[in-house]
Amino acid sequence: EQHVATEIVIFGALGDLSRRKLLPALYQLDLAGLLHEDSHVVAAARNDISATEFVEQVKESLNEFVKQGLDETVLARFVDRLIYQKMDFKEVSSFDGLAQTLSNGSDTRVFYFSTSPSIYGDIGEGLNHAKLNTADVRVVMEKPIGHCLESSKVINDQVSRYFNENQIYRIDHYLGKETVLNLLVLRFANSLFTNNWDRNHIDHVQITVAESVGIEGRWGFYDDAGQMRDMVQNHLLQILSLLAMEPPADLGADSIRDEKLKVLKALCPIDRHNVKEKTVRGQYTEGFLNGGPVPGYLQEDDANTKSNTETFVAIKAEIDNWRWTGVPFYLRTGKRMPAKHSEIVVHFKEQPHNIFKDSYDDLPANKLTIRLQPDEGVELEVMNKIPGIASQLHIHENKLDLSFSETYNDMRVVDAYERLMLEVINGNQSWFVRRDEVEAAWVWADGIIEAWQSTNDKPKPYAAGSWGPVSSISLIARDDRQWVE
Ligand code: BG6
Repeated sequence: EQHVATEIVIFGALGDLSRRKLLPALYQLDLAGLLHEDSHVVAAARNDISATEFVEQVKESLNEFVKQGLDETVLARFVDRLIYQKMDFKEVSSFDGLAQTLSNGSDTRVFYFSTSPSIYGDIGEGLNHAKLNTADVRVVMEKPIGHCLESSKVINDQVSRYFNENQIYRIDHYLGKETVLNLLVLRFANSLFTNNWDRNHIDHVQITVAESVGIEGRWGFYDDAGQMRDMVQNHLLQILSLLAMEPPADLGADSIRDEKLKVLKALCPIDRHNVKEKTVRGQYTEGFLNGGPVPGYLQEDDANTKSNTETFVAIKAEIDNWRWTGVPFYLRTGKRMPAKHSEIVVHFKEQPHNIFKDSYDDLPANKLTIRLQPDEGVELEVMNKIPGIASQLHIHENKLDLSFSETYNDMRVVDAYERLMLEVINGNQSWFVRRDEVEAAWVWADGIIEAWQSTNDKPKPYAAGSWGPVSSISLIARDDRQWVE
């Protein structure tokens, strides 16, 4: 339970992230009784609007994004916590006004950087000028942290001029997802998995993060990044490192992050010599989704029709260490795929010998599926006898299915931002990314991007509404395996 009075300042409070995620997350914490009665939210933005206009905008956003509907009493209480602060982040004197607004009564202060990273440095400087960067404050940084290793260093350097690493909370919202956190529980609270989690027992792993949405009106931003920088460098590599890391000594922030970092450092580099065999880039063309036609990437609003940016990536990733050598981790992620569907499938090794040949020629291997979203759950495929009296044993592949919504009686799945916001307030860095992790992830991602550039690898077309270019099928088929649909 949270009983510390906190002052949360959101820089960029009228932006998309704040409207869609941060304000609704804070409302949910309030609803759950997790905000201290003296906690406040200072919403800082450039816009010249009155306090009343601001409150109206917040109410609109909450109405739109709080799915279960609003509770009038909680809404009134929440609105009372809000203070609108008009600011020019590039003007240090603007931070004097902020300092006046902030009360001195709070126990903790959180500065949430929800602006373009190009002004993180200015915000740091302004906070420093107004003497607001005291040792007890926490800073939350949103992605993208850079466009490559070098630019990530610039951003991190700018912020670390004014704050220590133990005050900096780099958000990767996948780390706040229920099912991603559950990876740790599955792996380390179940001896069945703990004892079989290595190259001797696992054949390969597939990680799919598919989205049906396209670019959603942010073509310019996305085109500059592409799916590799937008999704693989952060979300997929974070999932991969939690899945593959050694058991941490405890749940402490550095215990977990030390282990994740080792995985990132052990990723086999992909370079111009093997990039064609180990990766596939794709770009969607027009197609059909949910029964209607959708435009291709190059036909989206504001598109530069010559763009070679990838909207799909598949990679055969390998981890060179004692636990995983020889076990491929196939990653794939893309926009405009048939559905929003993210899952991890762990394929165990086949039985060395089959005594059921009479009824089943090729015994399939066990498969553990962790459904990240939607329809969160865990599923284990096992072989089972079909009940019946026949003397020949009929056996069959079946699923042990732990669906979260059925098991936990339709309990609301907490949004990642709610949990992460609470962890910041509570001062727990375990689910935030440390600087060295960001850098190790960039080293590997940059290597792939450079290899694509130097081999002039153009993205392969795939129709919107499909599972990606055909070469993504060949990537895994070359190893005699196939994607789980
Ligand atoms: C963001 C990416 O980090 O994650 C978006 O910038 C992407 O492009 C989003 O759509 C996916 O998040 P989620 O939680 O909807 O899977």
